[in-house]
Amino acid sequence: MAPHPASADRPIAPKAVLFDVYGTLLDVYSVALRAEQMFPGAGERLARTWRDRQIEYSRLVSMSGRYRPFWQLTRDALQVSAAALRLPLDDAGADSLMNEYRHLSAFPENRGVLQALADRGIRAGILSNGDPEMLAVAIRSAGLTELIDPVLSVHATRRYKTDPAAYALGPVALGLPASEILFVSSNCWDAIGATWYGFTTLWVNRADAPMEQLGTEPTRVGHSLRDVLEFF
Ligand code: LAC
Repeated sequence: MAPHPASADRPIAPKAVLFDVYGTLLDVYSVALRAEQMFPGAGERLARTWRDRQIEYSRLVSMSGRYRPFWQLTRDALQVSAAALRLPLDDAGADSLMNEYRHLSAFPENRGVLQALADRGIRAGILSNGDPEMLAVAIRSAGLTELIDPVLSVHATRRYKTDPAAYALGPVALGLPASEILFVSSNCWDAIGATWYGFTTLWVNRADAPMEQLGTEPTRVGHSLRDVLEFF
């Protein structure tokens, strides 16, 4: 599908919602606490470097047709991040941080928002870089399984976001044109990639980050998942 610029006067009437997962429903920086226990003074830095490397690796393997599942890529990103920061991470330490990643904390407003969407008859699913197994465990341990349908993993396409093939899973699964699906992400780059694809989009800017300068902006910008409800 051809990319198109965001248009402020495009009518906004989404019929379903797809959420990004890591950073949007689940707090990826909650691993910083465990990292801080292991490496006092460096936990936050390790968590941020890890996240950046993970996303960088996802783009590299996707662009070069070298797909590896997100779980493996996340572990590899952890190893290189610890090495880059000169932190002595052994296998047991890596296992412990990966286990933390498997059971990330959910943001507190998620349940209420997902429940409100269900009450309004709006289908709400996820579309994530995570592989199917890690998504199932993460959503279950966050207690959100019954409120999320469909669960879409880019694994089916062997392409990571922002490849259009990854976003294309949404319209196919929901049987709706992209413009009638609200795609929600806390990652600005993901919200912009989804806008390029054709979704109606909300960037949940939790960290008060600057807008990425890519010539396109998400349909709307909010600060909490609750802003999703204003579309309905
Ligand atoms: C995801 C990453 C990008 O869940 O946060 O797809």
